[in-house]
Amino acid sequence: FNVPTPINEPVKSYAPGSKERDELQQMLRELKQQQVDVPMYIGGQEVRTGNTQTISPPHDHQYVLGHFHEGDASHVTQAIEAALAAREQWASLPWQQRASIFLKAAELLAGPYRARLNAATMLGQSKNAYQAEIDAACELIDFFRFNVHYMQELYKQQPQSAPGMWNYLEHRPLEGFVFALTPFNFTSIAGNLPTSVAMMGNVVVWKPAYAQIYSAHVLMELFQEAGVPDGVINLVYADGPVAGEVIFNHRDFAGIHFTGSTGVFQNIWKTIGQNIHKYKSYPRIVGETGGKDFIIAHSSANAKQVATAITRGAFEYQGQKCSAASRVYIPSNLYEEVKGYVQEDLKSFKMGDVEDFSNFINAVITETSFDKLAKYIDGAKADPDAEIIAGGNYDKSKGYFIEPTVIVAKDPKYVTMCEELFGPVLTMHVYEADQFEETLALVDSTSPYALTGAVFSRDRYAIDLAAKRLTNAAGNFYINDKPTGAVVGQQPFGGARASGTNDKAGSLLNLLRWVSPRAIKETF
Ligand code: NAD
Ligand code: ALA
Repeated sequence: FNVPTPINEPVKSYAPGSKERDELQQMLRELKQQQVDVPMYIGGQEVRTGNTQTISPPHDHQYVLGHFHEGDASHVTQAIEAALAAREQWASLPWQQRASIFLKAAELLAGPYRARLNAATMLGQSKNAYQAEIDAACELIDFFRFNVHYMQELYKQQPQSAPGMWNYLEHRPLEGFVFALTPFNFTSIAGNLPTSVAMMGNVVVWKPAYAQIYSAHVLMELFQEAGVPDGVINLVYADGPVAGEVIFNHRDFAGIHFTGSTGVFQNIWKTIGQNIHKYKSYPRIVGETGGKDFIIAHSSANAKQVATAITRGAFEYQGQKCSAASRVYIPSNLYEEVKGYVQEDLKSFKMGDVEDFSNFINAVITETSFDKLAKYIDGAKADPDAEIIAGGNYDKSKGYFIEPTVIVAKDPKYVTMCEELFGPVLTMHVYEADQFEETLALVDSTSPYALTGAVFSRDRYAIDLAAKRLTNAAGNFYINDKPTGAVVGQQPFGGARASGTNDKAGSLLNLLRWVSPRAIKETF
C-alpha cells in the first residue's frame, strides 16, 4: 500500500462567466436563504441545547444566516466521554484504513463540498471568493493529502535490526484525548488541527472560535461523510474558559493542538503546568500563535515589487492572516517611489460585501476587532509623529469595514510597529538608506514574535546579511516575496519565539507530536 504522491490542489480562478463562479454564487444565495440551525456533534450525534446564538456575516451584521446551539461544561464532559469511548477501536485501526478516510475527505472537498465550504467561509468569516478558495478548499485539501503522505513516511521510520534480533518502533497514539482549539481566520486551520491529530489514531474534542462556527459545521459534515467514525472528532461550542476548565482538569487530557493568540496560549500553558500532576501523561502542547510580521527593503530593492508585496501581504483578507505584513522598513532612497505605488495600488482595492466578486476588501471579523483597530487609527491621526498616507476611514453601520490604512511612523518603536493589531492597518518606518545593518537589528528586537518576515534586495550580500541577522526573527522567511501565502508541502508553516512552538502545520514534524512510540525488541 503506497499512498498517492501528493500534489497541491490547483486554485480555481472564479473568472467572470465561469461555471465555478456561477456555482459559487448560487451556493451563496442558497446558504443565505437556509437559516441553518447548527448543532454540536458529540459521539456522532447532533446536540441541540436550545441556548442559541445568532450567526451573521461580518459585512452585514443585521442579516441572520442562522443560529448555533451553545453548550456548557456538561457538553464538554460528554464530548470527552464520547472521545474516550471511541478511542480503543480507532487507535487499533490499521493506519491505511485511517488514511483512506482522509484521502476521501480530500476528494469530497475537491468536488461536491468545495462550493459549500467556500461559500460558508465567505459569508461567515467575510472572506472574498479567491481568499476562500486558497484557504477552505486548496489549503485544506493539501493538508489532508500531504498529511497522509507524511503519515506513511513516519510509520516507515524503523530502527536497525540485527541477526537473531528484530527491532520495531510502534507509533502509538497518545493515551487519552486531544483538545483542538482553533481560530476564526483560516477554515483550513480549523479543519487541519483536529484531523491531523485524529489521523494518527487519536480522539479529539474540537472547539472552534465562535466566529468560525458557520464553516466549522460544514467541516464536521465533511468529516462524517468521509467516514470519520462517531466519537473520534467531537465538535463543541462552549465559551473558551468554560471548556478549558473541564479539559485541563481531566486526567486523560493528552495534548492540545492550538492556533490563536499568544496571550490565550500562554495562559493555557500556565494552566497545564499548574495541573501537571493531575494527568496520566505529560500532555503534548503544540501552538501556533500571534505575529508582527515584517518586510524590510534594502536600498537596492525594486520599489514596485516592494509596494506590491506590501499591499498584497498586508491587506489580503483584511490583514487578518497571522502571516500578514504589519511593519515595514523602507530605505530613504526608495520611500517616495514605494509610497506612490502603494497609494496607486490601494486606489484599485474595492471594499464591500463578499457577494460582489470585484470587492478585494471585506469586513473585519467582529465589532470588538473593529473598535480596537479604529482606536489605533484615531491614535495615529492625533499623533504628530505619525502620518496616515492611505486609508484611515472606517464605518460599522452595515458591516465592520475598515479601509486599508498605511501609517508612517517616525519612531521605529511606535505602538503600531510593535503590537499585533490583526487587521488592515500597516505601519511603515523610513530608515536612512545606509543604515541597513542597524535596521536589521531593529527588526529583530522590536517584537517578541517570530512568525513571518521578508527581505527585498537585488544585492546578494544584503540578502545574506539579512538571512543571518534575522535567523530567529521568523519561522517563515521570504526573499523577494511577500510574507503570506505559504503552501503546504512547499513552505512548512509555523513561527518561533512568541509566535508558537514551530511544529510546522502539514508536516512530518507536526504529526510526530501526536504519537508516543514504543520500541520493541524481540530475540530469536
Ligand atoms: P483567539 O486566541 O482569540 O482564539 C483561539 C481559540 O481559543 C478560539 O477557539 C477561542 O474561542 C479560544 N479561546 C479564547 N480564549 C480562551 C480561553 N481563555 N480559554 C480557552 N480557550 C480560549 O484567536 P483568534 O482571534 O481566533 O485568532 C487570531 C489569532 O490567531 C491571532 O493572534 C493570529 O496571529 C493567530 N493565528 C496564528 C496562526 C499561526 O499559524 N501562527 C494562524 C492563524 C491565527
Ligand atoms: N498559510 C497561511 C499563510 O502563509 C497562514 O499566509
